[in-house]
Amino acid sequence: MKLEKKDILGMQDLSVDEINLILETAESFLEISTREIKKVPTLRGKTIINLFFEASTRTRTSFEIAGKRLSADTINISSSTSSVVKGETLIDTARNLEAMNPDVIVIRHSAAGAPHLLSSLVKQSIINAGDGAHEHPTQALLDMMTIKEKKGRISGLKIAIAGDIAHSRVARSNIYGLTKMGAEIVVAGPATMLPRNIEQMGVKVFNNLDDAITGADVVMMLRIQLERQKQSVFPSLREYSQHYCLNRHNIKLAKNDVIVMHPGPINRGVEISPDIADDPSCSVILNQVNNGVAVRMALLYLLIGGHE
Ligand code: CP
Repeated sequence: MKLEKKDILGMQDLSVDEINLILETAESFLEISTREIKKVPTLRGKTIINLFFEASTRTRTSFEIAGKRLSADTINISSSTSSVVKGETLIDTARNLEAMNPDVIVIRHSAAGAPHLLSSLVKQSIINAGDGAHEHPTQALLDMMTIKEKKGRISGLKIAIAGDIAHSRVARSNIYGLTKMGAEIVVAGPATMLPRNIEQMGVKVFNNLDDAITGADVVMMLRIQLERQKQSVFPSLREYSQHYCLNRHNIKLAKNDVIVMHPGPINRGVEISPDIADDPSCSVILNQVNNGVAVRMALLYLLIGGHE
């Protein structure tokens, strides 16, 4: 099967077959990162531009590593070092990058829909590396790959997603993707951090963390996105952590073989206690990061090199 897509804009647009194709391709790429010479010639001569208008450690680095491991030329542009600081618009930036003939533009932007706008403007493939509070599809794909790796399946699992759901593009992409793949999703957070009508996305909603994680196979904790909150939505970090921090005590409510996930960056002691984040018997946080390189290699390959 081929991925008949120009762009990867969101999990909402991907079918179950397409998700399975991406995950299987990513699994086949994992081994390359364990070799002494971590490079294959698959995308030699291709050019990838990473255009990041928001901070990133994991996503930007793993896209750069993914491109380099496939022998593509990768170029990183951040808003602070581009002509955006001189007032150039996103549309003009896109048109100028298009004129240099890259093969893929990876974009992270604070505005929901920015990758979709680029997709309509330029002929190159666009990958959404996070648009505002809308979607972060490559994060959801690496999360799915990690769940499959650790649990052998996604369908039928109870997956609790907790924290600042309203401002989380990770939550939104995972809800779209994981429900499509047959998981039962429950979400938990203070009422001020839950989007209105979130039940319509096919999830069960709890205001209490304990209720949400009881019997869970997977617990995914989310960071409070202070940068996206227009006003304070909880009294204090201390009070938030008293009710919504995953810790040594409440994790006992989940299944014995629960895995704990977090997209990063972690606020230790706020949404997850350090002993849980660092516990190799349940935490798969660094497995997520490792799988992120393979997922991004798979997407680059399927979009611009995967037709032979
Ligand atoms: N998970 C994630 O998107 O992390 P970065 O913001 O570091 O890319």
